[in-house]
Formats: sequence, structure tokens, C-alpha cells
Amino acid sequence: MSRQRILLTGASGQVGWELRRSLSCLGEVFALDSGAMNLADADAVSRKVREIAPHIIVNPAAYTTVDKAESEPERAHAVNASAPGILAEEACTIGALLVHYSTDYVFSGSGATPWREDDGCDPLNVYGATKLAGERAIQASGCRHLIFRTSWVYGARGSNFLLTMRRLMRERPELKIVADQVGAPTWCRDLAEATAQVLSQINSPRHDTDQGTLWGVYHMTNAGETSWHGFAQAIQALDELDETSAPAHLLPIPSTDYPTPAKRPLNSRLNNDKLEQTFGLRLQDWRSALALCLEASNR
Ligand SMILES: NC(=O)c1ccc[n+]([C@@H]2O[C@H](COP(=O)([O-])OP(=O)(O)OC[C@H]3O[C@@H](n4cnc5c(N)ncnc54)[C@H](OP(=O)(O)O)[C@@H]3O)[C@@H](O)[C@H]2O)c1
Repeated sequence: MSRQRILLTGASGQVGWELRRSLSCLGEVFALDSGAMNLADADAVSRKVREIAPHIIVNPAAYTTVDKAESEPERAHAVNASAPGILAEEACTIGALLVHYSTDYVFSGSGATPWREDDGCDPLNVYGATKLAGERAIQASGCRHLIFRTSWVYGARGSNFLLTMRRLMRERPELKIVADQVGAPTWCRDLAEATAQVLSQINSPRHDTDQGTLWGVYHMTNAGETSWHGFAQAIQALDELDETSAPAHLLPIPSTDYPTPAKRPLNSRLNNDKLEQTFGLRLQDWRSALALCLEASNR
């Protein structure tokens, strides 16, 4: 197989950073951050894709500040909805495969059953609405695509719940944590590695007879579920805290006691069966992923 050219966006984000490493065994990775390609600039995006002429475009870049999106809907829309549409059109033109990431926030969060890929979407906030519009633009383009919806992403760098909790647990004696939103914390490294495994299968004998049936949306999260409060408890149990200070008291609260500009879904559970049935992949349980992430970041 000839060496593939892979255009990676958001290369300094949580998932993008990990993808840079995990995709490198699949081909030559052109890792772009927002300075190298501003997704809000449609012409610049088209120009860059044509210049690199990739076989695969992997797009973890997104406007991810969920609360800020409520007051900046145009900026969020440009990056999360318009840009994926442009990447998809360019992918169509050059015959590239587009790999994109989306979110549990496309769902309303009603009920307690894990959402399946074909369940109806009804986002509660601007971020979710723009991410859904991005999915739809990709689907409408007709390009070969894989859209991985994930949830509650964290890692050893960037801005995420794990790092915020580790800091606050050292600074404050008590933390109030939302306990009625349920989902799966997902380690960005597991997402990146699963993406690379999917891509390595795409051209493998296992799937080369009828690849057309593969394109579409897949849910991809670490296995299991918890609340933000449960996630915080697990972080506290695993984290190496200073033994001289008492552990912070983690007080469970309902979402109604923690008002934010953007409303969040209560049920963020995503059913991952389609990923397993199609690619034979199931990500590890969120607790073991968290333990490995903390171990890696303490090394
Ligand atoms: N984080 C979560 O909890 C979560 C949950 C569900 C789904 N997701 C989805 O998973 C994917 C990866 O998320 P993540 O957590 O890795 O995000 P992240 O750490 O916030 O990284 C986002 C990246 O997007 C880039 N970006 C933002 N605006 C840009 C622009 N105008 N032009 C070019 N690049 C731009 C940022 O670049 P700069 O740093 O250079 O600005 C950053 O590298 C996203 O699609 C997100 O919607 C995330």
C-alpha cells in the first residue's frame, strides 16, 4: 500500500494531540493547528486541502467552549458547522475520506437509555446545534465519511474536567458536583487509538469488499457510565494527593443548583454497539482508562 497523506486539524487540541501520534503509523500526517489553517476562513480551508491533497482528512478541531457558544453562535457555527461542510466538499472533489468528531450534546438528554446512532437529535444548546449542523453538512455532501460521536473527553493536557478537578481538590475543602448528568468520561488517547484502528481496517481485507456500507455515524466512548460526581470521586480515589491535607468533600448536587449559560443533557449515555459490530472495537471501561491516564501523567 502506498504511503497515505493524512491532513489532521486541531493538532494541538486534546484529541488532535493524541491523533498526531496514533495516525503516524498509517501514513504521513500533516498536523495543522489553528495558526496553520483557520477553520473559520472558508477560502483558507479549501486552499490548504488542495495544497496537501490528502487521502484522509481527520477533523477533531472544533469550537468546544460550550457556555461561550451561547453568546458567540456565529463563531461556533463557522467552525463546527460551516467548516466541516467545506472539508466534506473538498473531500468529495479529491476522493478523500473525511473522519470527523461529534458529541453527545446533539441529543436532548431525555430518558435513561443509551442513545443509538439513528435516534432523533434535539440539541439543548448552541454548541450541540452547531455540531449537529456539521454532521448534516458532511452527510449532505455525499463524501466518504466517518463521524465519531463521543462524550466527556479528558486527557493529561488541555482544558478538561479531570485537570480542573485535580486543581480544585487541592485548593478547596468542599466541591459541589453535578450528580444527575450521566455519561461516559472518555480518554482522548483511547479515542485516537480507536480511530487509528478503524482506519487501519478500512483498507484491510476484512472490509474491502463493501466499504460503502461503512460510512456514517458511530458512537465511540469509553465503556460504562457515571455522573460528573462519580467521575470526581474516581479522580479523587486514584489521584496522588498530598497526604498531609484532608481530602476535599465532594457534595453531589442537581443540575438545577449549578446554572450555566448552556443547558446540558441529563442522559449523555451513548450506545457503542455499532462500533463493535462493524469494527470489532470496544473501548476499555472509563475507570481503567482514567487510571491509565493518571499513571501516564504522573510519570
Ligand atoms: N471535549 C469534550 O468533552 C468533547 C465531548 C464530546 C465531543 N467532543 C468533540 O471531540 C472533538 C475533539 O475535542 P477536543 O476535546 O480535543 O477539543 P479541544 O481540546 O478543545 O481542541 C479543539 C481544537 O480545535 C481547534 N480550533 C478551534 N477553533 C479553530 C479554528 N477556527 N480553526 C482551526 N482550529 C480551531 C483548537 O485549536 P487552537 O488550540 O489552536 O485554538 C483546538 O486545537 C471535537 O469535535 C469536539 O466537538 C469533545
